[in-house]
Amino acid sequence: PPALYGNRTNSQGINMNIQTQWNELSSAYQKFLGRQWQAAPVIAGQKLTGAPHKVHCPYQLSQEVGTAQFATAEQAKQAIDGLAAFWPRWNATPIEQRAQILERLGDLLEANRAELMAMCTLEAGKTLQDGIDEVREAVDFCRYYALQARLKLGREELKGPTGERNELFHEGRGVFVCISPWNFPLAIYLGQITAALVAGNTVLAKPAEQTSLIAARALELMFEAGLPKEAIAFLPGDGATLGGVFCRDPRVVGVCFTGSTDTARIINRQLAEKEGAIAALIAETGGQNAMIVDSTALPEQVVKDAVGSAFTSAGQRCSALRVLYVQRDIADRVIELLKGAMAELKVGPTHLRENDLGPVIDAEAREGLLAHIQQLKAEGKLIAEAELPGSLNGHFVAPVAFEIGSILELKKEQFGPVLHVVRFDAADLEKVVGDINATGYGLTLGVHSRNEETAERIEALARVGNLYVNRNQVGAVVGVQPFGGCGLSGTGPKAGGPSYLLRFVNERTTSTNT
Ligand code: SER
Repeated sequence: PPALYGNRTNSQGINMNIQTQWNELSSAYQKFLGRQWQAAPVIAGQKLTGAPHKVHCPYQLSQEVGTAQFATAEQAKQAIDGLAAFWPRWNATPIEQRAQILERLGDLLEANRAELMAMCTLEAGKTLQDGIDEVREAVDFCRYYALQARLKLGREELKGPTGERNELFHEGRGVFVCISPWNFPLAIYLGQITAALVAGNTVLAKPAEQTSLIAARALELMFEAGLPKEAIAFLPGDGATLGGVFCRDPRVVGVCFTGSTDTARIINRQLAEKEGAIAALIAETGGQNAMIVDSTALPEQVVKDAVGSAFTSAGQRCSALRVLYVQRDIADRVIELLKGAMAELKVGPTHLRENDLGPVIDAEAREGLLAHIQQLKAEGKLIAEAELPGSLNGHFVAPVAFEIGSILELKKEQFGPVLHVVRFDAADLEKVVGDINATGYGLTLGVHSRNEETAERIEALARVGNLYVNRNQVGAVVGVQPFGGCGLSGTGPKAGGPSYLLRFVNERTTSTNT
């Protein structure tokens, strides 16, 4: 009924403004399609040289997009020296001044959105819509954390005995390392950095190897917004080489990491063993996300939301739907509609607006997905597979759906356009939620039901960070759906939420006998 399935904005919910300017944007964007970009290590504003790596477009492998120079371990040490030395000055900079830098950065991102969108498609293989959403989310992070810094980080007087003044305040911790993923090369990259900076930390920024170019461009915009050059060091490069240096340095007080659960464990171990401060780890990691559909749900709406949640961004979102649980009574109908919807999906070069899905990020990601797909095909579990045009020259994987018996059959997260469907009986609802919890992940969960009690029951039983009822389950909006999970999915606090900045600061009190 309309009350439950009312009008929705797009996946990011709030970018109507940008959408209305679509025509203007798409012609501005065309100008950047042939451009070459560069990324190099930057310490205190100085560009350094490193080992050059050519960057190729994931949807057109013959097309070079630029060169990224990868930093050395020696440069990482040098960067931390500078960041540690500058930290007291940055920490003493008034919160208002730091917040204004973030807001200026938000304005600059908007002003440069055509170029940034082009980079999202060319370097990360994003669709145009994903590129729009990405820029929008990055802008939102800048403005939201500026606002939260003003609200949460100032001085607060606490009530105590007469004759005593007690004040609570916050300051940065010191040198924070931000290690960001390729799937949100602008939004998560800047979300981490802006949070750490506005909280009063100096930042060592280590973007994903695959998306150094867009990160380097965003660094230029940070400087243009007025960020002191000594407050940040930019070290593109190999995570295993550089991460080991950052995470063992006694002067590093915290790491903000988004990526795989395995890498988060390595970082955690390195931080635990290092000398110096006991460092904070903020990790946002993987998921094994399900959607539970009971027999009161509307099959058309279910399929629309399941397809959107599983295949948007070629399934390369940690929030993406991997396992669709459908109550047996309506499973045949849902599967029939799912086949039809998947047959309509268009896969191809993402600078063309007609394509729904682009490539996956690189050859390694594609090979891993294809191995899983081949195995399930060999086991006779295929439901549907979209077509790939023959002319493609990129890391494409056709969206595919399989029927399996339980989420527990999946040994690891498949980070791509692969959906698994499981039928269940109404009497087994609690077992279904139990199995989902038993994966150990706890990121997103979708529910489709017109019975409010079912959604409430699932909410009480499920151990997840983000529950979505009667809608899709990707595209969390900053400040509206603070994002992040628990268990194998991460440490919290939620990105884009009111508690996030508090993990980047030391809390202090001063008590004065008046
Ligand atoms: N925040 C993204 C989403 O909700 C995932 O990282 O889709």
